[in-house]
Amino acid sequence: MSTEPPFHVVTPPADSPAPPTRRTFIATTTAVGGAAAVGGLAAGSSVFAAEEAVAAQAPPGSHVSLTVNGVRRTLTVDNRTSLLDLLREHLDLTGSKKGCNAGACGACTVLVDGRRVNSCLTLAVRLEGAEVTTIEGLAKGDRLHPLQQAFIDQDAFQCGFCTPGQIVSGVGCIQEGHTGSPEEIREWMSGNLCRCGCYVKIERAVEQAAGRKG
Ligand code: FES
Ligand code: FES
Repeated sequence: MSTEPPFHVVTPPADSPAPPTRRTFIATTTAVGGAAAVGGLAAGSSVFAAEEAVAAQAPPGSHVSLTVNGVRRTLTVDNRTSLLDLLREHLDLTGSKKGCNAGACGACTVLVDGRRVNSCLTLAVRLEGAEVTTIEGLAKGDRLHPLQQAFIDQDAFQCGFCTPGQIVSGVGCIQEGHTGSPEEIREWMSGNLCRCGCYVKIERAVEQAAGRKG
């Protein structure tokens, strides 16, 4: 019967480093973790620095003075502010609606110096000295503008979202003299979309206010 043990005991060389004790292991990992945390703080402060740099590069605001519905207004706005946002966010005139915000629907139509414009595409800072008329500026006290009354008489709206833009655009259409026929009205009102499909009655309302139908 063999007297050899069932396994071999491997003895480390005399010059190999001593295996880590629990104390040395904790000390080592604490040091590494601390270094990582310091690195994290450094990264965080560089993020703050980057944000401050971006803020410093933000476009400055500009002063603009314009007359809105007969009232002189002077504001400081970001150079990128649209006339629509100036009206809605700065002057609390929320009648003009933000439909597409891209010049496609006409819900934001206002008059600038008597001309119809899509206020979502018009930079506010370019309107120094301009006269702006919004849906809020059409009635005279309790007396509705003739086109506002015509929209009621002709039942020319359903949800009403497009209606302020339709009415202001209709006022412009009448002032421009583009009301010679139903076809002409439809052509010159074609920039104002109505998802409820009230086009026939809108055209009749413009006709009524233009004096061709009572
Ligand atoms: Fe201005 Fe649609 S919101 S055209
Ligand atoms: Fe609803 Fe024109 S009335 S979108």
